[in-house]
Amino acid sequence: METDKKLVLGLFGFGVVGEGVYSVLGKTPSLEATVRKVCIKNIGKKRNAPKELFTDQADVLLNDPEINVIVEMIDDADAAFRIVSTAMNNGKHVVSASKKMIAEHLPELLELQRSNKVSFLYEAACCASIPVIRNLEEYYDNDLLHSIHAVVNGSTNFILTRIFEDKLPFKDALLLAQQLGFAESNPTLDVEGYDALNKWSFLLTHAYGILPGRERLVFTGIQNVNELDAGVAAKKDCVIRLTAFAKKLNNGKVAAFVLPKFVKQDDLLAFVKNEYNGVVVESSFADKQFFYGKGAGSYPTASAVLSDISALRYHYKYEYKKLYYHTPGELSNDFYLKVYVGFTEWKQVPKNDFESIEEWHSNDRVNYLVGIIHFDKLRKSTWWKEDGVSLIVDADPLIESLDVTRLKKRSLELAGYNG
Ligand code: HSE
Repeated sequence: METDKKLVLGLFGFGVVGEGVYSVLGKTPSLEATVRKVCIKNIGKKRNAPKELFTDQADVLLNDPEINVIVEMIDDADAAFRIVSTAMNNGKHVVSASKKMIAEHLPELLELQRSNKVSFLYEAACCASIPVIRNLEEYYDNDLLHSIHAVVNGSTNFILTRIFEDKLPFKDALLLAQQLGFAESNPTLDVEGYDALNKWSFLLTHAYGILPGRERLVFTGIQNVNELDAGVAAKKDCVIRLTAFAKKLNNGKVAAFVLPKFVKQDDLLAFVKNEYNGVVVESSFADKQFFYGKGAGSYPTASAVLSDISALRYHYKYEYKKLYYHTPGELSNDFYLKVYVGFTEWKQVPKNDFESIEEWHSNDRVNYLVGIIHFDKLRKSTWWKEDGVSLIVDADPLIESLDVTRLKKRSLELAGYNG
């Protein structure tokens, strides 16, 4: 695309994000981008834009030679992939906000970008308003990046905040997140951690060159976190956040997962409330850096889409530097995690899976233990995702190596615990 060539846009979707993008484009005339057509599913629905702009025929946009950029903001991952792949094959640049589609198809999307020599940008797909993809891609050299620790889902963070601060029941907090336009149309994707997993899988590609990560990542959401867990968290001077975590281990491999976590009140992520997202990056020399901003909602997401559209003016492309120019990172399952497990009955927890149990409480009010478990044991089991079991990682959860003999002894000494 020539620098002075006007951006002529074809938009797919006119929901929370699509309408937001249309609106912010109207407020940024300096971008000199015009919307030529908007493709929507339900053509009969009244919209806040001129009627003649809309069509329900995808090909009208995809085959229009005047349109040089497709902006895809629809909810259906399969349809989104068909749209963006056809657009790229037709020589159009693409901006997308479809995290599920990107997580499911990243290898094919990399090939489409390469073979068609087009840009495919998706800053809005992770942490909405926070420019985290471009920063990881451009700023942090592989060796400099020690760890990333983040809240990447606005809805679950909103729900946890409302439960902790207003004592709102889970269902009411979720309903509010839906009404405010933060949640996915299928909110299970938020609540059970799939949305965070999707985002984390491609963020790991930009951070460490790990591809694809999704199938191999251990994850869960906040579906089993309850008020008893919140009470334990408060006693430990912590809040609970659904966090995405990645850390380079001493052996050079990367530990990564998406799990609820006890976060100390003075931790930067405790400051991240409601629909906000936050990303704490630890790197050599710079120590800690903190990115913070709205992670869901119409305008915050639209701002990232707008920034991608604007980047097309100077031919910006992701280079996937960590994947192509460095030795790609490798996930490790060989480390330990310190975890809290809330449960209703002892038999739900296979105590022999633990290297050590440091705390356990079981009475008519609370049932929980705090113990150390090998990550691979967690990865290969599902008991911790069952109803009535809530697994929450400790405030400082990662242990690279253990003196197992010492731990077993200490475990046995603990208050006559024998399961
Ligand atoms: N449902 C998503 C969230 C929207 O709550 O974070 C932004 O990706």
